[in-house]
Amino acid sequence: MSAERGDVLVVFGATGDLAHKKIFPALYQLQKRSLLDVPVVGVARSDWDDDGLRHYARAAVEAVGEPIDEAAFSRLAGRLSMVAGDYTDSAVYSRLKSELPAAQHPVFYLAIPPALFGTVVHGLADAGLSDGARVVVEKPFGRDPDSARALNDTLHKVFPESAIRRIDHYLEKESVEDLLTFRFANTFLEPIWNRTYVESVQITMAEAFGVEGRGSFYDSVGTIRDVVQNHLLQVLAMLAMEPPISEDADALRNEKVRVLRSILPIDPGQIVRGQYDGYLDEPGVAAGSTVETYIALRVHVDSWRWAGVPFYIRAGKALAGTATEAVVQLRQPPQLLFTGVGGTRPQPNLLRFRLGSHDGVTFTVQAKHPGGHPETCPIDLDVDFARALGRRPEAYERLLSDAVDGDARRFAREDSVEQAWRIVAPILDLPDRPVAYARGSWGPPEADRLLDGGTWHHPEVDAGTAGTGVPSAHVPEHQDPA
Ligand code: BG6
Repeated sequence: MSAERGDVLVVFGATGDLAHKKIFPALYQLQKRSLLDVPVVGVARSDWDDDGLRHYARAAVEAVGEPIDEAAFSRLAGRLSMVAGDYTDSAVYSRLKSELPAAQHPVFYLAIPPALFGTVVHGLADAGLSDGARVVVEKPFGRDPDSARALNDTLHKVFPESAIRRIDHYLEKESVEDLLTFRFANTFLEPIWNRTYVESVQITMAEAFGVEGRGSFYDSVGTIRDVVQNHLLQVLAMLAMEPPISEDADALRNEKVRVLRSILPIDPGQIVRGQYDGYLDEPGVAAGSTVETYIALRVHVDSWRWAGVPFYIRAGKALAGTATEAVVQLRQPPQLLFTGVGGTRPQPNLLRFRLGSHDGVTFTVQAKHPGGHPETCPIDLDVDFARALGRRPEAYERLLSDAVDGDARRFAREDSVEQAWRIVAPILDLPDRPVAYARGSWGPPEADRLLDGGTWHHPEVDAGTAGTGVPSAHVPEHQDPA
């Protein structure tokens, strides 16, 4: 791994949407906490000068809605400079080079469409800017196994794997990384973390909003490419992987790849694709589009630890609320000595990892129901991370720090991206029409058939997210205007 600390951060696509929504607010937060100590150079096809970029950065920070700490913002503004021009023009790279006279380990962040990656990395190499540098690339990383391999080949022509950072912002979420801490920094889970005690695992990523403003991007990807191939398979890998042999980035990534390798390609007979009512009227969506906005599927992890344990993934837009959760359902005790209240069958234990905005963990167990009968009722042992741990950095703050520091742990390695494409390949671009579902529902009821008589554990959603049209601030198409 090229672990040298970066000495300048260069953002291609600095006038784009992702820079506005995520990169500048995150840089500002880092600056506020005195964690940003390198110059930041923006590159884009625009005619902005340094002040133009500073104004854009300020507008981006203001848009978040917190009062601005002027001293911190002016320290950030002092770091910003701009190199404007067309990425196909070699003069841009010469100007960039003169902007970085002393840089030994520049970090190039490509917040631009993947079709431009090749042009930019060759431009950097031709200008002599790639030696000792790192390149950070946004998702989507390809659209299928072949295009991902082609993209890897393009990057590898200039950068070794150790200098490439593929973003999956889920890996930078504190609550997602906590899956590993929870499993491997405690002893109580490991003995039961296997097919003997685990009945099933469900991973749900529900969003209450539709494709607002992103119709044409979304219609070119659909739910499988947008969040399953990357975010949700990474979450699954963290739940199912074996302990890494050390803290080292590659030790961790080796185990992730190992578990991904054990997953069978998804059987098209084990999925239900849905499309919310009204999707076809969204601006940018093709007439008669058969792209899914919802998917439920069953994954087989074909390993000694997990053989026979179904892992379910469910994701969708315009659902009943916004929440991301992984629920591990334990098997019932071998003998049910107690009934639930009123003679009902007691519920199984559920370990619920909340990975979205109200992150935390809930363990639902059976307790004695008050009264003379030996009956049980479920109670929650619950922790809310914000209350227990205070403010934790946002994914993009961590991502930018990691990119500059050289830490590769929370970036996706070539082999894991290719494995994830292998797993979803059989269910990409299916011609059949997805099942319609009502906005604000939990998706098509047809998805129940995947569970063999079980039930979906819907996330608890609060009134703040149920049925609202609040889209995620993350818009990954990050087109660079101009
Ligand atoms: C992005 C997807 O990668 O993740 C979006 O493209 C999705 O469609 C977003 O809304 C969700 O991210 P988060 O961090 O809000 O869960």
